[in-house]
Amino acid sequence: MALLLGDTVPNFTQASTDGDLDLYDFLGDGWGILFSHPADYTPVCTTELGAVAGLKEQFEKRNTKVVGLSVDELSSHAGWVKDIEETQNVKLNFPILADTDQKVANLYSMIQTEDNKMTVRSVFIIDPAKKLRLTLTYPASTGRNFAEILRVLDSLQLTDGYKVATPANWRDGDDVIVLPTVSNEDADALFPKGYEAVKPYLRVTPQPNK
Ligand code: BEZ
Repeated sequence: MALLLGDTVPNFTQASTDGDLDLYDFLGDGWGILFSHPADYTPVCTTELGAVAGLKEQFEKRNTKVVGLSVDELSSHAGWVKDIEETQNVKLNFPILADTDQKVANLYSMIQTEDNKMTVRSVFIIDPAKKLRLTLTYPASTGRNFAEILRVLDSLQLTDGYKVATPANWRDGDDVIVLPTVSNEDADALFPKGYEAVKPYLRVTPQPNK
């Protein structure tokens, strides 16, 4: 059965380019991103892995570790990593699982269809309690926008700490929305910078941790 947001993600041990990887041990008590690819030596995946490697500092700032997955073998990954580093001008700095038995792909429902066992472009954001906080699935022909993944991490980490939600197209530093469950009286105390009640249910306040 597909994983639902809020579920505890299943642990696994699988071979990776950095040796056998136990997901829970690897993530420790930080955040995690698990993302899958259709196959090695494919052009879109090559650009995606390069893009993620280039965001190393951004992930570190957000206390987030990244794990890639493809169902090809470690020997294939090794040659492909060289290509990624050459063509994308980066050093690969996160492990890529060699999920040859599709153990992880099946556990996380990354398989396209029963007839077509190719893994899809899935992303899972996992919080420090090992709860699933985001899933997204893209078609093979569309490379993912990793700035969006960072944006969601920012939103999750902010909204875990404050009684706010983030509006459409929000970016770190923009105004946020006071949760509808917060009374006006409590909002006065919780948001000393004040808030604007555009509607009784739509109250906007400066980002509280800035
Ligand atoms: C790619 O990563 O380039 C790709 C993989 C599968 C189908 C289409 C494109």
